[in-house]
Amino acid sequence: VAGCKVAHIKTIPTVDAGELSFFEANNDIPFDIKRIYYISKVPEGVRRGFHAHKELKQLLFCPYGRIQLILENELGREEIELSDPSIAVMIDRPTWREMLWLQKDSVLCVAASDYYKVEDYIRNYDDFKKYLEEIR
Ligand code: TYD
Repeated sequence: VAGCKVAHIKTIPTVDAGELSFFEANNDIPFDIKRIYYISKVPEGVRRGFHAHKELKQLLFCPYGRIQLILENELGREEIELSDPSIAVMIDRPTWREMLWLQKDSVLCVAASDYYKVEDYIRNYDDFKKYLEEIR
């Protein structure tokens, strides 16, 4: 999706007892995880995101529910629906993202390569387009 890899999270199914998914920093994803955050209690139909990061790498996944992820960068604008706990999207280039909650109480989890840094955010879409031109 827009040059961002869709990855399978290792998942162990059990008989009648659900499944277990896991990944390890550096072994399964190509960075040290410095921060994990998640977005929950979002009503259906709400959109969040509307920003990009300059340096931050992130693995996004939805352990519960259904969330549409819209990604845009120099390779285009594409969307993917996250509804399977064993699927993740790796954002490892400056990418504008929007998330639409297709189902109430869906949870979006993010493993990130760095601490929260306000200066790494681009929150204005036009600024993001300019930034893409600058780094080209
Ligand atoms: P924000 O990035 O605006 O959420 P979204 O773009 O998904 O709607 O974050 C909301 C608030 O939380 C904002 O004030 C910054 C703060 N925040 C942190 O303090 N640490 C974090 O790791 C994150 C992701 C957000």
